[in-house]
Amino acid sequence: MTIDVQSILKTGAAITDAALERLLPAATIEPYSIHRAMRHSTFAGGKRLRPILCMEAAKMVASTDFYPPEEAAPAGHPEGVANLAAALEMLHTYSLIHDDLPALDNDDLRRGQPTCHVVFGEATAILAGDALQTLAFQTIASLPAPPEAVVAILRKISLSIGTGIGRWGDHDTGIAPGMIGGQVVDIESEGTKPTPDLVEAIHRAKTGALITVSIVAGAIYGSSRHGLPSSYHERIRTFGEKAGLAFQIVDDVLDMTQSSEELGKTAGKDTATDKATWPAVFGIEQSKHDAAELIADAFAALEPFGDAATPLKSLAQYLVERTH
Ligand code: IPE
Ligand code: IPE
Ligand code: MG
Ligand code: MG
Ligand code: MG
Repeated sequence: MTIDVQSILKTGAAITDAALERLLPAATIEPYSIHRAMRHSTFAGGKRLRPILCMEAAKMVASTDFYPPEEAAPAGHPEGVANLAAALEMLHTYSLIHDDLPALDNDDLRRGQPTCHVVFGEATAILAGDALQTLAFQTIASLPAPPEAVVAILRKISLSIGTGIGRWGDHDTGIAPGMIGGQVVDIESEGTKPTPDLVEAIHRAKTGALITVSIVAGAIYGSSRHGLPSSYHERIRTFGEKAGLAFQIVDDVLDMTQSSEELGKTAGKDTATDKATWPAVFGIEQSKHDAAELIADAFAALEPFGDAATPLKSLAQYLVERTH
C-alpha cells in the first residue's frame, strides 16, 4: 500500500485548524488580550503532528478487521475525533508558550513568529498557556464518546502532561508521565554533564509522553464503541513511545543542523544554553542512527494491524526525515 504522507499532513492540519477555529474563543470576545494571545500562538503555523497522529490512530483501530463488517466503522476518521485532536494541539501549544518564557528557554521566535510573551507580555502569555490547558480539558470532557472512554482519555492525558518522570504515577493507566516533570529536569540539568539515562528520561517525559498519549487517546476514542484487545492497545502505546523519543532526538539534531529560518525557532539554542540533549551525549551521527532504529522498532509494534497501519508508519518515518 503506497501512501502520500504529504497529503495526510495537509488534510490532517486542515481538519485540526478548522476544529481549533471553532473551539477557541474569538478574538472579539472579552477579555480581548488573552483570546488574541491564545490565537496568536495556536495559529502561528505548527505542523499539527500530535493531532494528526491521534486521528490516524483512531482511524486505524476503527478500520481494522477485528470487527464483523456490520460493526466496522465507516472508512475515514471517526466522528468527533477532530475535537480530541484539537485539544491535544491546545495542550502542545500551551507547553510551547510556557517553554519559551524568559524563566524557561527564553525564546523570542516560535513557529516563525515572535513568541507569545514578546507580543503580549509575560503575564498574558502565562495566562494564555493556562487557558489553553483548561480549554483542552473542557473540550475532552465534552467529547461525543461513551463516558468510560472519556474518563480513560482524561486520566491518561492528565498523567502524561503531569509532573512524573520515569514510571512514577503510572498506576493502571499504562502511560508514562510526564511533560511538566520532564521540563523541570530539562531546566535543572542545564549546564550539567548529562548521562545517557538522564537524557532519555527527560526526552521520554517532556516530549515522548504527550506524543504517546496522542496516539493512545486516538486509539481509545476510535475503538470506544467496539473495544480492542488490550494487547493491541499495548502495541499502539509502544509505537507511540518509540516514535515520541525519536521525535525529540530529531528535534535536538535539527537544533544543531538547521537554520532559524527553516525551523521557525532559534537554531543553536541547545548548545548555547548547554542543554541535556541526545547529540550532547551521543553525537549527531549516533543520534540519527538511534532515531532510525527507534522508528524501525515502532514499525514492528504495529505489525498485526497490517495495511491499516500504513498511514501511522509513514508519519513515523516523516518524524525522523523532517527538516523542521
Ligand atoms: C516542538 O514541537 C516542541 C517539541 C516538543 C520538541 P513541534 O516540532 O511539533 O512544533 P510545532 O507544533 O510544529 O510548532
Ligand atoms: C520542548 O522541548 C518540550 C516541551 C515544550 C514540553 P524543547 O525546548 O527542545 O522544544 P523547542 O526546541 O523549544 O521547540
Ligand atoms: Mg525546553
Ligand atoms: Mg525550547
Ligand atoms: Mg528543542
